[in-house]
Amino acid sequence: MRKLCAVLAVAVIAAVAFVAGGRLQAFAQDKPPAAASQVCAACHAADGNSPASANPKIAGQFPEYLHKQLRDFKAQGGKKAARESAIMAGMVASLSESDMKSLAAYYGGQTLKPAAAADKDLAALGQKIWRGGNAASGLPACAGCHGPAGAGNPAQYPRLAGQFAEYTAAQLKLFRDGARANDAGGMMRAVAARMSEREIKAVAEYAAGLRQ
Ligand code: HEC
Ligand code: HEC
Repeated sequence: MRKLCAVLAVAVIAAVAFVAGGRLQAFAQDKPPAAASQVCAACHAADGNSPASANPKIAGQFPEYLHKQLRDFKAQGGKKAARESAIMAGMVASLSESDMKSLAAYYGGQTLKPAAAADKDLAALGQKIWRGGNAASGLPACAGCHGPAGAGNPAQYPRLAGQFAEYTAAQLKLFRDGARANDAGGMMRAVAARMSEREIKAVAEYAAGLRQ
């Protein structure tokens, strides 16, 4: 019975969150969970606006996406993690499902301090690819899934606007090599497989300067 009540409570919270605009607003919290200040802050900063480009900015990202990534970093049931990262595997190892939810809600509720595009020519090429893809190689437009301004879509497509160019480029290369393979239906692997080195750099530069 208690279990049933807990399940019902979760269902009610989920329904409230859904009504509140599809984002996990019922879980939104301003006070950082203990792990955020004790562990995550060292690399992602207290508010999720990581100062170093090797560590992604996680402030203002969709809680659903952050939650999925945290789960994917965790090796469970004797199987290897869906998203392999030597660093993040260690960070999530001792987190419970509810820790991951509250961390995702906390960082999702922070305000992104966006990165910037430094190289204008490169960003101009990136803009072409972002909006129109590359017909010659069959590369689809990023805008088709991540939105014209990189704002993403909470159900499955992460926000990319204002992310560090270095991180975005690194993820595209991991998808291209198949080293990152936690994308549903292989969507991002199919995209990245069609990209040249220069296209990866260009589109990453452009995304860094996008404002949603
Ligand atoms: C030692 C530095 C470090 C610490 C501490 C750390 N992270 Fe990370 N985090 C990283 C790096 C590096 C990546 C990129 C991993 C990769 O290569 O894919 C990352 C990736 C992530 C991502 C994926 C973001 C995306 O856009 O896909 C999330 C979410 C995340 N970290 C959350 C956390 C949380 C929550 C904590 C605390 C429990 C934490 N991190 C602690 C370095 C760190
Ligand atoms: C068919 C839809 C689709 C298209 C087109 C697409 N993406 Fe994605 N992208 C996804 C999905 C789905 C994910 C989330 C994967 C996951 O669940 O971890 C993603 C994730 C990413 C990530 C990882 C973000 C992070 O924070 O770690 C990057 C970077 C990215 N996409 C860049 C691009 C770029 C650049 C383009 C255009 C060249 C593009 N995507 C086109 C569906 C798409």
